[in-house]
Amino acid sequence: MCAEFQKPRGTQDVLPPVSQKMEQIRHIALDCAQRFGYLLVETPVFEQTPVFLRVGESTDIVQHERYSFTDNGGVDLTLRPEGTAAIARAYVENGMYNQPQPVRMCYYGPMFRRERPSAMRYRQHTQFGAELYGSVQPEADAEVILLACAVVEQIGLADPVIRLNSIGCSECRPAYREALILYYQQRHDQLCQDCQKRMNTNPLRLLDCKIDVAIRERAPDIAAFWCEDCATHYRDLTQLLTSCGRQVSREPFLVRGLDYYNRTVFEINHPSMGSQVALFGGGRYDGLATTLDGPKSTPAVGFGMGIERILSAMEENFDLPLMSRIYVAHLPGFEAPSLVLAEELRRKGFAAESDLMNRSLKAQLRDAGRQSGVVVIVGGREWEQGEVGVKWLENGVQMTVKREELSDLLRQPEEKG
Ligand code: HAM
Repeated sequence: MCAEFQKPRGTQDVLPPVSQKMEQIRHIALDCAQRFGYLLVETPVFEQTPVFLRVGESTDIVQHERYSFTDNGGVDLTLRPEGTAAIARAYVENGMYNQPQPVRMCYYGPMFRRERPSAMRYRQHTQFGAELYGSVQPEADAEVILLACAVVEQIGLADPVIRLNSIGCSECRPAYREALILYYQQRHDQLCQDCQKRMNTNPLRLLDCKIDVAIRERAPDIAAFWCEDCATHYRDLTQLLTSCGRQVSREPFLVRGLDYYNRTVFEINHPSMGSQVALFGGGRYDGLATTLDGPKSTPAVGFGMGIERILSAMEENFDLPLMSRIYVAHLPGFEAPSLVLAEELRRKGFAAESDLMNRSLKAQLRDAGRQSGVVVIVGGREWEQGEVGVKWLENGVQMTVKREELSDLLRQPEEKG
C-alpha cells in the first residue's frame, strides 16, 4: 500500500481478538470504578487549547506533543493529550463544586500525544482514569490508588507495588527547588542539553531525565524539605495503603511529567516494561481547577492508566474468557432458515452466527471449529418436523432437539453428555 494511505505513525488498528480483550478491560475498569462510586464522565476529545496550557507550558505534552489546529471558525483547538485538565474544565463549567463533595468521576477514551514512537509510546493511546474532587484528606489519595490497584488486580496483575512520593506544596517546595538547582548547577557541564534547559524552566523535571540518571543518585531528597503538613499527609497515606494490604515503595525522585501536581505523586510499573514505562500514574493537584476559573480551593486527586500497556503486560497470561459463540450451520437449500434461527438465538441473548458463504456442511463445520464450541444444524426432515441437530465440537456429542427446547439445552452445559 502506498505510504500516504497507511495509518499515521505511532497509531494502531486494534483488530480482534485484541479489540475484544480491550473491550473486556474497559468493562472491568468501569465496573470496578462503579463499585468505588466513580461514575463515567465523557468530555469532548478536543478542547480549546488554553485548557491544556494549564497542564503546564513547560511540560512535554504541551510544548512539543500537542495536536493543535485552528478550525474553520478560527478557534484554536487541541486533541486531548490527557483527561485531567478536561475533567477539571467540566467540573468547573458544570458547577459540580456545588454538589455534595467529594465528587467521584472516571473516564475512558483516546488521548493524543505526538511522542517519538517507541515501544509502549503511541501517538494515540487509550486511558482509563479516575478523579476525585473536594477532599484534602489522605484518605482521598488512598482511595484513588486503591481503585487503580483493584483494576490492575482484577485484570490479573498480582500484588502491584505502588511507587510513591510527595513533591511537597507551595510552602516547602521552593526551598527544595533551590537546593536542587544548586546541586545541578555544580554539575552543569555534565548535564545533557535538555537538562541544561530544564534547570531554568522546570528544575524538578531534572530528576525525570532518562540520561542523567547517575547524577540524580546523589541529588537532595525532598523528604528532608517537607513541611509538617506534607510530611503528615505522606505518612498517613502510606499507613492507609499498607493497612489495606498494599505494597508501597518510597521513590524520592519520582516527580512525574505534568506540572499541576502537589504533594502526592504515584506510579506503578510492570517488570516486563522496565522502570521508564508506567502502567498508571497520578497524583494530587489541588490548584488545577482554580486556574480554570474554579473556586479558590478545589482539592483533587486522580490517576490515568494506559490500556495498551495493561494489555501488553497481560499478554502472556491474559486469558479472559471470550463469550462462547454458536455456529448455525445448514444443509444445502436451508440458508434462510439458518439465518432466521441465528437471529432467534441472538434475541434470546446468545452469541450466534450463520454461514453467509453458501458453503457445504463439511466446510461449515471446519469453519465452526475455528471459532465456536457448538454447532446447530438446520435442514432436512428434522427441520420440517420442528427439530434441529446440535453438535458439541469439543467431545463430538450430537443430538436432535425440538426447536423450542434449543435455547434451554444450550444454556445447560451439563447436557453435553
Ligand atoms: P500520564 O502519566 O501522562 O498521566 O499518563 C497516564 C498513563 O497513560 C501512563 O501511566 C501510561 O500508562 C499511559 N500513557 C501515557 N502516554 C502514553 C503513550 N504515549 N502511549 C501509551 N500509553 C501512554 C496523565 O495523563 C495524568 N492525566 C494522570 C492523572 C490523572 N493525574 C491525576 N489524575
